[in-house]
Amino acid sequence: MTALTVHQTVRPTGFPAPEHFRFVESRVPEPSRGTALVENLYWSVDPYHREMMDADFELNAPLEGRALGRIVASREPSLPEGELVFHRKGWRTHSVVTPAETRRLPLHDGVPLSAYLSVLGGTGLTAYVGLTRVARLREGDDVFVSAAAGGVGTATGRFARLLGAGRVIGSAGSPAKVRHLIEQVGYDAAFDYRSGPVADLLTKAAPDGIDVFVDNVGGEHLGAAIGALRERGRVVRIGTVGQYNTPDTPPVVFNHADVVEKSLRIEGFLVRDYVDLQEELYEFAVPHLLTGALVPDETVVTGFERIVEAFLLMLRGGNTGKILVRAAGPGEVGGAG
Ligand SMILES: NC(=O)c1ccc[n+]([C@@H]2O[C@H](COP(=O)([O-])OP(=O)(O)OC[C@H]3O[C@@H](n4cnc5c(N)ncnc54)[C@H](OP(=O)(O)O)[C@@H]3O)[C@@H](O)[C@H]2O)c1
Repeated sequence: MTALTVHQTVRPTGFPAPEHFRFVESRVPEPSRGTALVENLYWSVDPYHREMMDADFELNAPLEGRALGRIVASREPSLPEGELVFHRKGWRTHSVVTPAETRRLPLHDGVPLSAYLSVLGGTGLTAYVGLTRVARLREGDDVFVSAAAGGVGTATGRFARLLGAGRVIGSAGSPAKVRHLIEQVGYDAAFDYRSGPVADLLTKAAPDGIDVFVDNVGGEHLGAAIGALRERGRVVRIGTVGQYNTPDTPPVVFNHADVVEKSLRIEGFLVRDYVDLQEELYEFAVPHLLTGALVPDETVVTGFERIVEAFLLMLRGGNTGKILVRAAGPGEVGGAG
């Protein structure tokens, strides 16, 4: 049996392309003492991988990312064969892991396995931390979300609603996504940020202003939201996906006096500093998933050989909800839902 890994071969300028990656074939690795071999079933491709491509990823070495898989061989008693685990040695069909590198999945009956990488995974945790710990959302707060149709954005919209937000407003990159936000995700209003100046579109969608801005994009969105925030408004800085492929984007323009005069708070965070809230996220989200009040938004691409394609698709906005890659194979993998 052969294993496949993905290597980055070149540092891109601007948007990456398929020729910046290479699939490398090898024998399936064997676990050594204290490790287990995982056959991966789902992979996450994320905007942060684009950031890592500039300097952090080693060239011509296997890439890493979040993945779920099943232990198929083990030389470590705490990692029994057959168990489903989460780990970070993704972008490869097979991973050799230690106990410290893995997390057992709780596998709630009726919850699909993919949800542990989307709304119950790092994506959902980011949305949950942003609303509950950074925005400290209060009942009735009006919330604006950028990249609202993506993984973090859809989870933020759905969680905000469940947490008692007032109006929930989103921006996304196409009319179809705008419709999806309103008709499927439960946003009260949404706009296509490509259809005009963001400040004007936001004023139209939220004429009375907003209390919280959950920002996945930066740039023009951030400037517009600072203008629209009410007194004691909060900006949750989650990401800057609007700039990962265009580093020459001009700096954000906003009225600095607004921050003082409206007593605004602008705070960023990294989800890796909040992993202790994982259980709290399960407690909050799983009951809602089981009643159907919460639905995971996912774009699932089938076949490991399409992982680069899925990553590039996401960078250009081809996804709705969290983008995941699923191993090709018969039926539902994992047997969790
Ligand atoms: N702080 C943390 O710990 C943390 C954790 C997870 C994610 N993040 C950040 O959260 C953000 C969302 O991540 P995600 O995983 O949920 O990805 P995602 O939103 O599912 O996918 C990226 C989306 O970005 C949008 N986009 C691309 N270029 C854009 C541009 N120039 N302007 C505006 N939107 C653009 C696209 O949607 P459109 O069609 O709408 O353009 C695309 O679907 C990213 O900034 C990411 O880095 C941060």
